[in-house]
Amino acid sequence: MNGSRALLRRALAGRAIARHGRDILASPGMDVERKIIQHGDTDVCLHSLCVAYLALRLALRLRLAIDARALVRAALLHDYFLYDWHERGHGIAHGVRHPQLALANARKAFALTAREQDAIARHMFPLDPRPPRYAEGWLICLCDKVAAVGETIGRPALSGRMLLALDERRESGPPEGEG
Ligand SMILES: [Fe+2]
Ligand SMILES: [Fe+2]
Repeated sequence: MNGSRALLRRALAGRAIARHGRDILASPGMDVERKIIQHGDTDVCLHSLCVAYLALRLALRLRLAIDARALVRAALLHDYFLYDWHERGHGIAHGVRHPQLALANARKAFALTAREQDAIARHMFPLDPRPPRYAEGWLICLCDKVAAVGETIGRPALSGRMLLALDERRESGPPEGEG
């Protein structure tokens, strides 16, 4: 029974990402993210997909009443800063500054709700002392750290193959509003 529930949560999480994140995953900014490493050998796009998937799974597991669309979109855009932070000149300040840069880029490309903007802007809590205001932001904040640690130590929370499969659903997922 537990196994079938876990399978259902996986299926629901994958479907929610395809449904709510398809336009983001197909955007030019995400093509930039696919060329930039975030941690270890994981690019920024796959890192963001990992955060979205983990956050959805956790919300489903805890039966939290969340806005799934906001959770997916904020998770996919939380690191939409669109530069290689490993290059000279970005330095330590990147850790503090990048949520605001990601938010500014995301607002130029997409119409975002207050809940989505808050989750992007505050995902670096507690490095940035302002905590998220909404449950979606807390889930992203937590799952970002889980994903980042796994990627950095070479033990990713999700396999690269699975993340690539989630990314490829942007081309075949159901249109917004269906399914
Ligand atoms: Fe980040
Ligand atoms: Fe991140």
